[in-house]
Amino acid sequence: MTPGSPHAPLLEVDDLQVEFRTRDGVAKAVNGVSYTLEQGQTLAVLGESGSGKSVTAQAIMGIIDSPPGFVTGGRVLFRGQDLLTMSVGERQAVRGEKISMVFQDALSALNPVYSVGFQIAEMFRTHRGMSRGESKKRAIELMDRVKIPAAKDRFGDFPHQFSGGMRQRIMIAIAIALDPEVLIADEPTTALDVTVQAQIMQLLRELLQEMSMGLILITHDLGVVADVADKIAVMYAGKIVEQAPVHQIYANPAHPYTEGLLHSIPRVDRKGQQLSAIKGLPPILTRIPAGCAFNPRCPYAQDVCRSEEPPLFQIGGDRRSACHFWEDVLARTGTAFATGTGSETRPSEAAAAPAKPRKTPTTAKPAKVNRAER
Ligand SMILES: Nc1ncnc2c1ncn2[C@@H]1O[C@H](COP(=O)(O)OP(=O)(O)OP(=O)(O)O)[C@@H](O)[C@H]1O
Ligand code: SF4
Ligand SMILES: [Mg+2]
Repeated sequence: MTPGSPHAPLLEVDDLQVEFRTRDGVAKAVNGVSYTLEQGQTLAVLGESGSGKSVTAQAIMGIIDSPPGFVTGGRVLFRGQDLLTMSVGERQAVRGEKISMVFQDALSALNPVYSVGFQIAEMFRTHRGMSRGESKKRAIELMDRVKIPAAKDRFGDFPHQFSGGMRQRIMIAIAIALDPEVLIADEPTTALDVTVQAQIMQLLRELLQEMSMGLILITHDLGVVADVADKIAVMYAGKIVEQAPVHQIYANPAHPYTEGLLHSIPRVDRKGQQLSAIKGLPPILTRIPAGCAFNPRCPYAQDVCRSEEPPLFQIGGDRRSACHFWEDVLARTGTAFATGTGSETRPSEAAAAPAKPRKTPTTAKPAKVNRAER
């Protein structure tokens, strides 16, 4: 791989499109996703099951299951170089060395018939040409680094002999073995209990500080990202519906879907709040509703929402929202979330109130127009 531009973002995903051609039709799993990641930065990608979080990551890694999956458009630039136009060999050289991934299911991602030590050491043997002895030494160092107790003694143990949290540490060890510049962690804490979740997030935080990597943290849990992420991209039905620095998302969400997600998690800063889940289910991707994909579940939907798809409006600074009524959402959540209870204006009450006139796209630029700002 030839060196990229030193001024280019570490990673830039630009208008990425991925579809799965199935017997039931074409599922647009990723439908125009764009985001950037700088060195040392953490981007949390958030959304319900099936929103396209993992498929986006698989496209970045170049491991889409094809067929039925196809990357049909867009670019994935690593330090300015488009991974999607690289040869298979060049792509392989990036994978693991430059961009690496912790997969969603730690148990099935590890090979049950090899010891964990062997699987970590293999990274050094295969990619660095190290001897058996040297690679074992490096693997034990790495097991220590991810805080596996008695690493030397546990080198020969098999995956099933480790707890879920320890297996996740081993997956992280394998992912960081080659000092990648970008780490993608796909739901690294989902199957773990709350205490172990916190320990894994702490480990990721420490590694980020030590290694100054960029981290893409994929999760469906808004609760785990507050302390780690710099910015958040919220996905719904294969698209980003809101993108903002983390503190702005929590204090003043600009999209009804994000607002709904925030109402569904307990928060220490909003004691006494009433929790409420978002009603309904995400759409089947072969049958995405016309207009705004969220409209069947949105308590604020108006006629225009059922006919016109909102673009991802640039709404100031580093913020974007794909809602026709983002200004109303900002005004509503700014009041509700600032007062501490968040229950002053419940979606069901607000839905009964008359809507303000729709903001047309001319009052706020769609995000794609402002590429230079990214
Ligand atoms: N191998 C596949 N064959 C067909 N469709 C697929 C395949 N993999 C993914 N999809 C489609 O892509 C959609 C998005 O999948 P993805 O795994 O990215 O969801 P996700 O946001 O990571 O969800 P989760 O939180 O459950 O992991 C799925 O709903 C499905 O429709
Ligand atoms: S565009 Fe309409 S349906 Fe979509 S989130 Fe905004 S108000 Fe709800
Ligand atoms: Mg996933």
